[in-house]
Amino acid sequence: MGMLSIINARVVTMRAHGSAHTHTGARHGAAMNELGVIESGHVCMRDGVITAVASGRPNSLAGEVIDAGGRVCMPALIDCHTHLCFAGDRWNEWEQLRAGRSYESILAAGGGIMSTVGATRQASVATLAQDLADRLRMLAYLGVGSVEVKSGYGLDWPSEIKMLTAIAQAAQQTPQHVLATCLGGHAIPADNAAWPEQFAAHIAELARQFPGVAVDAFCERSALSVEQCRQIFVQAKKFNVPRRLHTDQFNSIGGVEMAIECGATTVDHLEAANENSIAALAKSKTIAVLLPCSVYALGGSYARGRSMIDQGAAVAVASNANPGSAPTIDLRFAMHLAVRHCGFSPSEALTAATWNAACALGIETQVGSLNVGKRADAIVLEERDERALAHGFSGPPPRHIVLAGKLINDRH
Ligand code: NIG
Repeated sequence: MGMLSIINARVVTMRAHGSAHTHTGARHGAAMNELGVIESGHVCMRDGVITAVASGRPNSLAGEVIDAGGRVCMPALIDCHTHLCFAGDRWNEWEQLRAGRSYESILAAGGGIMSTVGATRQASVATLAQDLADRLRMLAYLGVGSVEVKSGYGLDWPSEIKMLTAIAQAAQQTPQHVLATCLGGHAIPADNAAWPEQFAAHIAELARQFPGVAVDAFCERSALSVEQCRQIFVQAKKFNVPRRLHTDQFNSIGGVEMAIECGATTVDHLEAANENSIAALAKSKTIAVLLPCSVYALGGSYARGRSMIDQGAAVAVASNANPGSAPTIDLRFAMHLAVRHCGFSPSEALTAATWNAACALGIETQVGSLNVGKRADAIVLEERDERALAHGFSGPPPRHIVLAGKLINDRH
């Protein structure tokens, strides 16, 4: 694969206190502002691994050299919550949403998530994998090096397995680090009220067939109850399967507390989270994953990110890319919304989309900061000040994108 060096860069390492060591664990509260900046430095890579991160120029240079001209070099972005594996589209429903119908009423009438379930059940593994690979490529060009992709549009066991297989196949076609999550608890199909319990019963098999894959559910009045989600989590815990929960998107029904109690890695959405839930989160190790693109798309109140960070929670931000509540692939726009509407500082938004996102996926020893020995995933921005990444919107994609040590998009 060879050698590649990025020189003359403002290196935003995302290491806590600029330490050369890899810190494990998400950054909570004020620590989310720590970016570990080297004002003028370099990053060297060999065979897909970072070999040097330091100030000044390297002693010697071999292989490909990118002179960043003082621009920001930072870890590739990490999108820790997406629904990028799906078939069909929802543009007809978008006409209804724009005419004032609610997302939840469309779901209750068998549309929304269930309409994507219908199309996804019909699709072949090959089609799902190819469409996903095409979408992942678009994310790569925006500088996203690691991506979580959920199933959840199958909602019967063979279809969930089909989605996980398609995600695994698409992962073979990209230099990105792709992680699957089994969102078997996304909704309850109208013709199978027992699906949540059936899903819980399949978790032992999931752990065997797809080791490392997390489970996820949607805890909401219009989806699964707290008790149904708890049953899934209890099984998952038994088989050491990481747990994530969509909760408090529209209503606060106790999902956050249950998830913390069951040792969930993340709780995602949280637009309707109340003060007690935020306080409980702040005291826990569970990471809050905010998804502001859905609020931008559907309307409503943004999650209270400022309050979460001020109280000491660890917060990540993700695109939530999906055909229904967030028809976008743009993590950078989610970072912008976190600053514009959730009260984040630009530095907190950077942490939320790199280091803390890596922790949400349990991959922080491999990616999420520029450290010797980690995967060589880095981007060079067009800008010379990292605040541009979150203050700006609809901005230019990165100038250079290096994934697994390979330059994938040199537009210059
Ligand atoms: O995170 N709220 C539940 N799930 C997704 C939306 C999926 C869809 O509408 O297709 C979300 O917003």
